[in-house]
Amino acid sequence: MSIQWSIEEYEAVPSTQDLVKQKAASSDEGLVVRAFQQTDGRGRHGREWVSQDGNLFFSFLLRPQSGVETIGQLGLVIGTALGAALKNALDDPSRLSLKWPNDILLDGKKCAGILIETELSNSGALEWVVVGVGINVKAAPDEQAIALGADVSLDQILEQVSAFYTQWQTQGFAAIQPLWLDMAHSKGAPVTVKLGNQLIEGLFEGVDEQGALLLQDSGTDELRTITAGDVYV
Ligand code: BTN
Repeated sequence: MSIQWSIEEYEAVPSTQDLVKQKAASSDEGLVVRAFQQTDGRGRHGREWVSQDGNLFFSFLLRPQSGVETIGQLGLVIGTALGAALKNALDDPSRLSLKWPNDILLDGKKCAGILIETELSNSGALEWVVVGVGINVKAAPDEQAIALGADVSLDQILEQVSAFYTQWQTQGFAAIQPLWLDMAHSKGAPVTVKLGNQLIEGLFEGVDEQGALLLQDSGTDELRTITAGDVYV
C-alpha cells in the first residue's frame, strides 16, 4: 500500500494550500499542488509564510482512515517523513532535528514548516486533510530561520511521506513515536509552550503514544501532557 501521487505544478499561485482545499471535495487522496512562487503563503495560526525564490512550496490531499481524534499525530508523521528526506540530503544529518509539534530545525533554526487543515462532515467524521509544506531550500526570510543549503526534490519527499503515512495508517502512531523521538531535540531541553495566551516553562520529556507533548512543568514540577500549542525552544 502506498499513496498514488498526482502532481500539478504551477508557476505562481496565491497559496498551494488554498488551491488543494478548493479541489479537495472532487479529488482523490494523493493530489499534490506545487508552485514555484506563492504570493499569499500561509503558516500556522494565520501567520504569513514568506515564499522566497528557490524554496519549495507544496500541499497535498490525504483521506486518513483513522478517526479525527488521531489527527494531532499527523504532523509528527509528516515531520518524521520530512526529517528523513532532509537528513538524506545533508552531508551532516545530525544538524537536523524535529520540534514538537510541526517544525523542522537545522542547527536549531527553522528550515521547514507544516500546516495541517481538515474538513469534517456534519456528523463530525474526517472528510479530508490538506497538508502544506514549506521548505527553506535556498533562502531564509529572517534570523530565526535558516536555509537547508542542499538539494532535495519533491519526489524524494513524497516517497518518504508515502512510506511513513502508510506505516501510521497500518500500524498506528506507536510505530512512528520512536522514529520521531530519535530525530527530536534532546530530552531535558528547556521549552516554552504557548497555550492560548498562557506561557508554560518546562523541560521537554518526549511525546506519548498519542503524539502529545510530555512536559515537566518548571512552575509546578508536574509532568504535563499537552496536546496542542506552540513550543519555543
Ligand atoms: C508553519 O507555520 O510552520 C507552516 C508553514 C506552511 C507553509 C506552506 S508553503 C505551501 C503551503 N501553502 C501555504 O500557503 N502554506 C503551506
